[in-house]
Amino acid sequence: LPTTLKSLWKKPQIGNVVDVYGWIRSLRKSKNVCFAMVSDGTCQQPIQVVATPEQAHLLSYGASVKVQGKLEISKKAALGKQQYELLAEKIDLYGKVNNDYPIQKKNLTTEFLRQYPHLRVRTAKQNDMFRLRSDTLEGLRSFLAKNDFIETNPPLLTSSDCEGAGEVFLVTPHSKENDFAGNSNVSNKDEQKSLFFGTPTFLTVSTQLHLEALALGMSRAYTITPAFRAENSHTSRHLAEFWMLEVEIAFIESLDTLTDVVEDLIKYLIQYLQEKGHYREHWNHVLKQWHRISYTEAMDALKNSSNAWHDPPEWGNDLSSEHERYLTDAYLKGPVFVTDYPASIKPFYMKPSSNNTVAAMDLLVPQVGELVGGSLRKDSITSEEVPKGLEWYSEMLQQANTPHGGFGLGIERLLAFLEGNATNVRETIPFPRSSGSIFA
Ligand code: 4AD
Ligand code: MG
Repeated sequence: LPTTLKSLWKKPQIGNVVDVYGWIRSLRKSKNVCFAMVSDGTCQQPIQVVATPEQAHLLSYGASVKVQGKLEISKKAALGKQQYELLAEKIDLYGKVNNDYPIQKKNLTTEFLRQYPHLRVRTAKQNDMFRLRSDTLEGLRSFLAKNDFIETNPPLLTSSDCEGAGEVFLVTPHSKENDFAGNSNVSNKDEQKSLFFGTPTFLTVSTQLHLEALALGMSRAYTITPAFRAENSHTSRHLAEFWMLEVEIAFIESLDTLTDVVEDLIKYLIQYLQEKGHYREHWNHVLKQWHRISYTEAMDALKNSSNAWHDPPEWGNDLSSEHERYLTDAYLKGPVFVTDYPASIKPFYMKPSSNNTVAAMDLLVPQVGELVGGSLRKDSITSEEVPKGLEWYSEMLQQANTPHGGFGLGIERLLAFLEGNATNVRETIPFPRSSGSIFA
């Protein structure tokens, strides 16, 4: 394999001749010398290449190159600038960018860059985000493995809507003979074809129910899975295709166990990321005490506030994003678990915690709002009570069920929260999918 800058920075051997590969992130040419900052995206720190005008005459901003050269301590190192530089001996040019290359040096807005999902990874900021994403997934897996969780892969094609919110995508088999692309009048015949497994087939909104089946046999199961929701929300925290960590735990009887796992997981992750060299100032605050309040207490706090609500708080209604924002950013100033929601606004599988509430918990965090949703699960449910297509689920609960519970954590919302600065979830996933945007 070609050397990476990440490996080079681990053990920089001064005086050695090395090959580096990457894209030119900035270029300064003068009469006698040329400086090029080259990054390969494997780490934050680029390398400064020093070349003669003859060596550099083919180079231009954005180009992809291989540089063979000698690693030296930079003359500017004393000024606290670039510590090392590469004195070029041989430069190979792989490719150049065209005149219409959109990734220019000037500060580009995230909205602008979003038009170029296939190219925006060439910017330092987007590149950092995708490394944060990679290390985040690694950190989550590390915590779960240490705690005896088994990673598993429930299906993405389902015949039911786990959350019951009616936001499912219908999957239709497609073949060359039956090409109806561009034909908006879906005929009866086409509807027939959507019955792929003999029933309507959907992309999963959550793998929870299958994960429960797996936890009721291996005790601690998790998956990091795509999830799909046909919601027409144009917000900074909704995607049509997002990734979710779903965790399911058998033999737990209290909601506190579940909230403890979530809090420990996220605090562990932040420490893990710091050990990997990531740092954001607000993380120190996140590592402090989190809050736990019931939905009813949250409603009381909202009603007692002097806020002029767009959407007045009302027991029995879901928390709106302005309510969430008030709780995390103004009232408690930090992450908060809200527990025991009205049963009427939560899915069928949640265990009752009183007459009209369920043992549910949502983790709300500053700026982002809801980051995690979870609950204890019902002990039993009759096949009449269960949504259509889920008869297997009610049958499963009759076969040596145990107390259990779990949660789902949105990876993109987690990254937006970790990044801070009101980051949009669209910046946290390489190719964001949401209603009205599918270019690359
Ligand atoms: O609260 P949700 O809908 O919970 C479930 O789906 C449970 N069945 C999970 C479980 O218990 N296994 O979704 C869980 C999380 C949310 O808190 C949010 O972080 C994220 O998934 N999420 C989304 N992220 C981005 N775009 C969307 N449209 C999202 N919908 C949910
Ligand atoms: Mg939820």
